[in-house]
Amino acid sequence: MYIHTLKIGNIELENNILLAPMAGITDLPFRIICKKYSNPGLVCTEMVSSKALYFSDEKTKKLLNTDGEERPIAFQIFGSDPDIMGEAAKLISKDADIIDINMGCPAPKVVKNGDGSKLLLSPNLIEKIVKKVVENTNKPVTVKIRKGWNNQNINAVEIAKVIENAGASAITIHGRTREEYYSRACRFRNYKKCKRKCKDSNNRKWRYKK
Ligand SMILES: Cc1cc2nc3c(=O)[nH]c(=O)nc-3n(C[C@H](O)[C@H](O)[C@H](O)COP(=O)(O)O)c2cc1C
Repeated sequence: MYIHTLKIGNIELENNILLAPMAGITDLPFRIICKKYSNPGLVCTEMVSSKALYFSDEKTKKLLNTDGEERPIAFQIFGSDPDIMGEAAKLISKDADIIDINMGCPAPKVVKNGDGSKLLLSPNLIEKIVKKVVENTNKPVTVKIRKGWNNQNINAVEIAKVIENAGASAITIHGRTREEYYSRACRFRNYKKCKRKCKDSNNRKWRYKK
């Protein structure tokens, strides 16, 4: 792997190793241990519900505790109501270095509310959500997607363009569809296409090798 610095919005990362957000795993102690032993350029919280933040749920607030942690840290939020996502962004803006929006979670309890990867079927709603979050924070906004909902709906390239035009500073792609959940190996063909279609503010050549 080619290690280099990375810029996301106005945030300079020491390196391009990013700790993937993982619900139930990337809590405060886990992030501190990863930072100490692997020094990723960016760590991310577990995903938190924008609705829970909006309604001041105490347990949810604790998931965003960063006491004693090195910076930068991305806070990941999920939800499908643009106004509530905007309000949640406002609430976490002071403490987050980057706000990441989860549009890739495949869990039934998330998808049944229209959140996470279900959004991949609604590009117009994606645009509204990203715009609202960008409008309500002065921090860079990033979005995590999957390559599509299922094999009949592989639309990462289209969605990446929508997200870029709505003002996001970076996009992460999980190379499986929602239907694939966590099975099979990730397929990378779409990453290359997205990279070609979107502007790369770091101005780097595509270096992914299988
Ligand atoms: C237990 C677990 C929890 C995860 N939770 C999240 C999450 O909260 N937000 C998110 O964007 N991705 C989440 N992911 C997806 C990972 O960040 C990553 O994109 C995915 O596992 C693909 O990498 P892999 O092929 O190495 O597993 C989770 C993955 C696992 C295994």
